[in-house]
Parts: sequence; structure tokens; C-alpha cells
Amino acid sequence: MAELSQLDPPREAPDVRRNLIDGCGRRIDSLRISVTDACDLRCVYCRPGMETGDVVSERALSDEQRLQFVRFLHDRHGLAQVRITGGEPLLYEPVVSLVEKLRANVPDVTLAMTTSGRRLTDLGVALRRAGLDRLNVSLDSLNPDRYHRITGGRLDDVLAGLDSASDAGFAPAKVNTVVMRGVNDDEVVDIVEWALPRGHVIRFLEAMPIGPAAGTNGKAFVPSSEVRERIGRQFELVPLREDPGSTAKDFEASNGSVSGVVGFISPVSESFCGDCRRIRLTADGRLYPCLLDDRSVDMRSSWSTGSFHADRAAASLKQAVIDKQPRGRAQGTPMVTLGG
Ligand code: 5AD
Repeated sequence: MAELSQLDPPREAPDVRRNLIDGCGRRIDSLRISVTDACDLRCVYCRPGMETGDVVSERALSDEQRLQFVRFLHDRHGLAQVRITGGEPLLYEPVVSLVEKLRANVPDVTLAMTTSGRRLTDLGVALRRAGLDRLNVSLDSLNPDRYHRITGGRLDDVLAGLDSASDAGFAPAKVNTVVMRGVNDDEVVDIVEWALPRGHVIRFLEAMPIGPAAGTNGKAFVPSSEVRERIGRQFELVPLREDPGSTAKDFEASNGSVSGVVGFISPVSESFCGDCRRIRLTADGRLYPCLLDDRSVDMRSSWSTGSFHADRAAASLKQAVIDKQPRGRAQGTPMVTLGG
């Protein structure tokens, strides 16, 4: 197959770059790409009642198309970060090659990935070599039975994956825990005590009302303030300076013998919509301006004649940016499709 450089028109000079600013004055410079709808977990907060097999869309974008869109966002609008998500991105067979191509095409963009972590034993080193900068791994319990009840998976696979990530040089790997009342809220201190000596940054997430899990997540909701208070009884928590655009409020946690970073992501109780810099591309090419809004635009029209049309991409992108609401409300599409 021809190299991208042969297929594409010459890239635009950086001086034609314009920041992508939405109607609320927010600069959009972060793209999340869901590379597959497939996931081998069945997390209760993501897709309860969807235990049947995955349906991977036949309309999925190709990696060439994804790269063309990334280059477009980068060259025109100064894209700063790409996060690869799923489904489970490590089930996407060409994921390492996609990272490699992204690294080569947009060398100054931060490349991150959110994963369940279970295939990192096989892929951690290759991903690092391919140029992945950051890794977030989901881990909702340290109890094997409980982990299985929440996700359908095996805890040992994640723990081994996290060790492989550290060995591969992802230091620190960030660990995401969705806190649910009566499910894992009694474990938050244990999880901090486990994470800090291993050098992992641990982030506690509020469960969001998304897709088929909206109702159960509402019932099991635990505000970050409560989690912080529980941890604060065992650890001194000193607030760290916030990175612009970061969704987490991070603290330096210490208890005299160990210290490290603990963060709280509170989309429900302390909305961070005002700082949102993100747009999301689904595996089949829909662009969602907001995680908590059903509206999306279909980017596939950018390739309607076979090759990439920057003007069409610009028109669709403009619509998505116009549609980006000041504040998210509700989302009917499951997280497994949106990619978190
Ligand atoms: N609320 C909060 N976090 C969620 N995640 C998935 N669904 C939800 C939800 N409804 C988390 C996953 C993963 C990241 C993509 O988002 O655990 O860490």
C-alpha cells in the first residue's frame, strides 16, 4: 500500500494553524479515539445487561483515515494530545502499529491510552517502543472475587499487566478506580495503600450516568468528597497544582511511611466542563463533542469520494464544535462505544 505521504496533499505550514475554540471560549486540543467497540470485560458501571457478544461495526474507520484526521487536527489546530481508547484498545489487533504511525506523523503530540490492562504483559514493551507516552489502567477492586463480579475478568491479569507496564517504563502508570457504594467503596484506603509503594498514581472516579448503566450508577453514586474524607483519615492530603485541562484534582498523600499522588475525578459533583478540551472519535467515525451529550457528527463524509477532503472534515468539525454544550447532561450511548 502507498505511504500516507504519497496519498496526502502537502501538509499545511504551521503558520496557518488556528486554535480550535468553541462557543464557550474553550480551546479544543485533545482527541480521544476509540479504536474498537470490542471489550472482553462487562463492567457493571459501563454496560450492564449487554453480556452478549460484541458487535464491532463494519463501518469502522481505517487507521489511515484516523491518521488523516489526526494530522488535520494537528496541522490546522495544534492538536496536543491523542488518547487511544475502546472498547478495549489492546484487543484491536493493529494497535501497536497505530501508535507507531501516530508517533511518526505527529511527533510533538502526547500519546496516551486507557485500557483494562490485561494484555499489557504481551504488549507493554512494544507500546512503549512504538512511542506511547502514558498509560491509564482501570482497576476497581483488589479482591479477586469482587474484581470478577464488577468486571467479569481476572484480577491477576491486571496486576501482571501493571507490573509489565512499570517494567516497560510507563512510570508512573495511572490507575482508575470507579467508586460505587456497597460495591467497592470500603476498599478505597486499601487501594491507596497498595498503589503508593508501587509508584502508581491512583485516581478515584465518580460513576457517571451513561448509557445502560445510568440508573445503577446513580444509585451507587459516591461523591469524591466522601472518598477524599475517608482517605484523609489515614493519609495527609496536600493539594497539588492543577494541570490546565486536567480532569483530576490531585493530592500528595503521605502517612509517614509512604507517599505518592492520589487524585479525584468528579464529573458529577464538581463538573469540570468549563475546562474541557476534548472531542471524541468513535471507532466508526462519529465525533462526539461531549461525553455527556448524545449529539454527534459523522466524520465519514470527509472520505465520501475515497480520499480525505479537508474542507468536508472542517465543516463537520465546525458543527461538532458548535454543538459542544457548556455543560454535559446525559448520555444514552454506552461508555464502551464512547471510549471514556
Ligand atoms: N463513570 C465513570 N467512569 C467510568 N468508566 C467507564 N464507565 C464509567 C462511568 N459510567 C471508566 C473506566 C475507565 C475509563 C475509560 O472510564 O473504568 O477507567
